[in-house]
Amino acid sequence: MIVLIGAQWGDEGKGKATDLLGDRLDYVVKFNGGNNAGHTVVIKGEKYALHLLPSGILTPGVTPVIGNGVVVDLAVLFQEIDGLEARGIDTSRLRISANAHVIASYNRTLDKVSERYLGARRIGTTGRGIGPTYADKMNRLGVRIQDLFDESILRQKVEAALSFKNQVLSKIYNRQAVKVDEVVAELLSYVDRLRPYVGDTALELSQALDEGKVVLCEAGQATLLDVDHGTYPFVTSSNATAGGACTGAGIPPTRIDRVVAVLKAFTSRVGEGPFPTELHDKFGDYLREVGHEYGTTTGRPRRIGWLDLVIGRYAQRINGVTDFALTKLDNYDGLDEIPVCVAYEVNGVRHDEMPVNQTDFHHAIPIFETLPGWKQDISGCRSFDDLPKDAQRFVEFVEQRLGARISIVGVGPGREAVIERHSVLGG
Ligand code: GDP
Ligand code: IMO
Ligand code: MG
Repeated sequence: MIVLIGAQWGDEGKGKATDLLGDRLDYVVKFNGGNNAGHTVVIKGEKYALHLLPSGILTPGVTPVIGNGVVVDLAVLFQEIDGLEARGIDTSRLRISANAHVIASYNRTLDKVSERYLGARRIGTTGRGIGPTYADKMNRLGVRIQDLFDESILRQKVEAALSFKNQVLSKIYNRQAVKVDEVVAELLSYVDRLRPYVGDTALELSQALDEGKVVLCEAGQATLLDVDHGTYPFVTSSNATAGGACTGAGIPPTRIDRVVAVLKAFTSRVGEGPFPTELHDKFGDYLREVGHEYGTTTGRPRRIGWLDLVIGRYAQRINGVTDFALTKLDNYDGLDEIPVCVAYEVNGVRHDEMPVNQTDFHHAIPIFETLPGWKQDISGCRSFDDLPKDAQRFVEFVEQRLGARISIVGVGPGREAVIERHSVLGG
């Protein structure tokens, strides 16, 4: 089994990396998050934006799975299925865990109003109801996919959730209380369409692995957005690191063979929170434009910074990365030189590792090493030897400091624009 995760703050190009491996896979499992994710995959010039469905849905022969660790907005699910079917993509193989939680309408409302209430202390969430739905799960007030198939159970669960939430909505946020009947009716309206997809996906995946099938677990979000290992509280509400694949898919750690981390050649972040290498100058604007760095989900301009190898090494260590996919190297084609952050200075002290204290991370000043650019279009390169010497040197410099090999190098958005140096499926 392979786990594929993001090494930074998301949008590293996980969707493209999964798609690249697609024809060598039997299953692609989404194990965390929901439609806060946005993965863009470009196939033969056609662009696909996926939010809730695993990127493997675009590969014929792959069985896409929504694992128990995902939170599902049913309206978005069927919109996405209908959108792909209209473009000729077969979605009938999709499997959904009976234990995945459902994003109810009141949690979308609460996500938005609580962000407004936080004001300057807001997280900058995607407003999709992700945080409140995971909070309900931990509070044991959540609604699972399987609850939809028993109307009286569903009603009890919605009543339990709303008896508290309606107080919050009306007394704190000054919003109208939500009616149990309306929530139940909306959720029940999806039941007939949902039924054929739902099952015990952990069992199905276990059987598939026993048969020698190749399973890839694909993270939404990324290491520094992980609720435990990220820049808390400026994180998402799930485990986006490799360990999350075990709990979020129901697959034991002893089954994991490889961990692939997708690392963008520079850094981006959407939403609030610390970002040591952030750029507020013409280089940031330049990379945002050449890289089309606008959110796939919310359309927000992404904050941009230089590559940060303290973060890269941290991601290697937390996830046990065996292979890196370095993406968007082509976005540097126009630059004379490329600064790379190799350590931080905090109050006069050098830090080679992520500071344990978040205040220190807020105050971290990057220590850069500057590499020469190559000033050449590399989007047509298909082997490492095709790359100009300075681009090769850049990849080797980064690889030495990450502590794991760089097996894939991305040189353009298309499925074909890639250099594979090593097979990530072993060897
Ligand atoms: P994800 O959330 O990690 O799947 O990443 P997103 O899809 O949100 O953002 C990555 C963006 O970079 C998408 O628009 C991809 O098409 C694009 N992309 C991925 N790899 C490369 C690459 O190597 N070069 C270029 N130029 N674009 C890439
Ligand atoms: P992919 O899978 C980038 C960010 C939001 C916000 C924080 C919390 O495309 O890499 P949430 O709605 O999850 O409660 O918001 O997390 N965020 C992402 N940033 N890429 C993503 O997903 C993200 N998913 C959530 O911007 O800062
Ligand atoms: Mg994205």
